[in-house]
Amino acid sequence: MSGVQPLPFEHRENNSLISAEMICADAMEYLPKLESNRFDLVITSPPYNIGKEYEKKKSIEKYLAEIEQIIVECVRLVSDQGSICWQVGNYVDKGEVYPLDIFYYPLFKRYGLQLRNRIIWSFGHGLHASNRFSGRYETILWFTKSENYIFNLDEVRIPAKYPGKRHFKGPKKGQLSGNPKGKNPSDVWEIVAEDWEREIWEIPNVKSNHPEKTNHPCQYPVELIERCVLALTNECSHVLDPFAGVGSTLLACLKNNRHSIGVEKEVTYVKMAQSRIDKMRLGTLKTRPVTKPIHQPSANDKVARLPEEWNSSLYDAPLNERNGKCG
Ligand SMILES: C[S@@+](CC[C@H](N)C(=O)[O-])C[C@H]1O[C@@H](n2cnc3c(N)ncnc32)[C@H](O)[C@@H]1O
Repeated sequence: MSGVQPLPFEHRENNSLISAEMICADAMEYLPKLESNRFDLVITSPPYNIGKEYEKKKSIEKYLAEIEQIIVECVRLVSDQGSICWQVGNYVDKGEVYPLDIFYYPLFKRYGLQLRNRIIWSFGHGLHASNRFSGRYETILWFTKSENYIFNLDEVRIPAKYPGKRHFKGPKKGQLSGNPKGKNPSDVWEIVAEDWEREIWEIPNVKSNHPEKTNHPCQYPVELIERCVLALTNECSHVLDPFAGVGSTLLACLKNNRHSIGVEKEVTYVKMAQSRIDKMRLGTLKTRPVTKPIHQPSANDKVARLPEEWNSSLYDAPLNERNGKCG
């Protein structure tokens, strides 16, 4: 299959060109053409085998056997100081939940990778389940190829909750205990799943107009990937996304001066990705800044108040009265 021509991106500081190349191909056919050890980061969200428009649902065994061949290629392509980040949710069959990261972990171990974090990506909105608790997180398995890996913690520190906290005993008593650059963001990341989704709740009817929204059913937020790109690669590193969709990984790389290649089998998504890349080059693509806090509704927001139709006395009642005969 033919590749879509890459477009160069002007490096903001020294005018060297940062590439963002979308390839329209099956990853299984294209990855073997790339040179070994080229990428400091392979980051992706593979198909979940849940019957989305770009995949045919199959048994979990068959699904994993097929993806394992791509994992073997990814391991070959990542540099010795590099990382693989595999972002997944659940595969669900007849109401039974299969957490995909649990199935993927042994595959990566089989090829010698070492897990550094199982990152929980939590988000506030999503489908409301009625036969189990509503799912509000997915995971990123972060593996490295060796013990000597790139990790730029300072690039992704977040503001400390109590920057004025001091040691209260010991030899450092009285000295500030935190880091002036901020704190480690931990392995639980609260990042809005989709900007437009948040705005549907807070500003109804913006979904179709939101500049970040594409027709891809499973686009992940650029902000989520930026954190990995900043921490796990250096400026001008090369990054690969073997299931690139509408190019969110490539946008995260462009924004932060990393070269990137995305492989995607559906030409419609490749074109959307290309258009988003073009907009980013022109400075017209809106994405959430990495450090922007999650919106908390104020008590005065209409949507945050208990509606009159609901009996508010129920919510004021002591627990034992609410529980009825079991109280
Ligand atoms: C979960 S989506 C990734 C979305 C992406 N993270 C984004 O933000 O747009 C998985 C993508 O993998 C693509 N895909 C599935 N199998 C593929 C294969 N063998 N080779 C290349 N792309 C594939 C699908 O078309 C789909 O767009």
